[in-house]
Amino acid sequence: MLAPPMRIFLTIAALLVIVILVGGVASLTWLMTRGPSEAQAARIAAVLESTAPPGEPAAYAHCASCHLHDGAGRPDGSIPGLAGQRQAVLENKLHRLRLGITRLPVMDPFARTLTPKEITEIAKYLSALPAAESAVTPASNVVRDRGASRYALHCASCHGANGEGHDGLFASRLCGQYAGYLYRRLHEIATRARGDADAIMQDAIAHVSAGELRVIAAWLAEGKGCVAP
Ligand code: HEC
Ligand code: HEC
Repeated sequence: MLAPPMRIFLTIAALLVIVILVGGVASLTWLMTRGPSEAQAARIAAVLESTAPPGEPAAYAHCASCHLHDGAGRPDGSIPGLAGQRQAVLENKLHRLRLGITRLPVMDPFARTLTPKEITEIAKYLSALPAAESAVTPASNVVRDRGASRYALHCASCHGANGEGHDGLFASRLCGQYAGYLYRRLHEIATRARGDADAIMQDAIAHVSAGELRVIAAWLAEGKGCVAP
């Protein structure tokens, strides 16, 4: 038998451990499920509840549950904005997803069932939508200048002087895209963490530092000098 003071001590210690464990799990859960800000959540809910706008292709109905009716995606970067993306880039990407040449597990079930005609309709529709206001926090002048010069050096040859993209290369329009999405994609491509990336681009950015990718993403997200596709 343990002496009463020892028992009290052990009970308190056990209680402390439980509190720390429960607290840890709760805060982790909170961190992992932390959603968009209230204003963003309200906007997303409003778009989800709204009915499809006139002209939206029927085949886009599934897509809208994630990319939203206005093609705006999510500002936190988990889902890219598609409004204003180049038609040729969208068609190329969706055909490759449909045929399984490119794999994006979250998108496969939706992209696999599209017909070529539906792909053209969706790509045409999205490319004509006005790009959503990306509500970016303006970058400092230092970040903006550095981002612009790094972009010109490493990316402009394929993605265009202002990030407007290139049809012939199927290089995406990047200006105005969310910084969170750009940086995540770039980091995954640079570290060869994903198999769906353009091989030449992967080689081209393999030696661009994470710091450079960050300022490039910040500059692109501001969409300065972004011209219509
Ligand atoms: C379940 C949610 C979800 C649905 C439904 C969905 N998407 Fe996506 N989509 C995503 C996510 C998440 C990404 C980003 C994937 C990543 O970065 O790995 C994405 C990426 C994309 C991209 C960019 C891919 C790239 O790498 O260039 C396109 C284009 C796209 N989706 C089109 C569509 C279309 C068209 C549909 C409907 C047929 C659709 N999506 C349905 C979640 C979804
Ligand atoms: C050699 C040409 C080339 C260079 C250089 C290049 N890219 Fe790309 N990039 C491409 C092509 C082609 C694609 C489209 C791949 C696809 O559809 O999956 C692409 C895709 C991307 C994507 C994914 C777009 C999307 O819609 O989800 C991002 C982000 C990106 N590039 C950013 C950059 C940045 C930033 C740089 C410079 C650091 C860069 N790229 C340099 C050719 C290039």
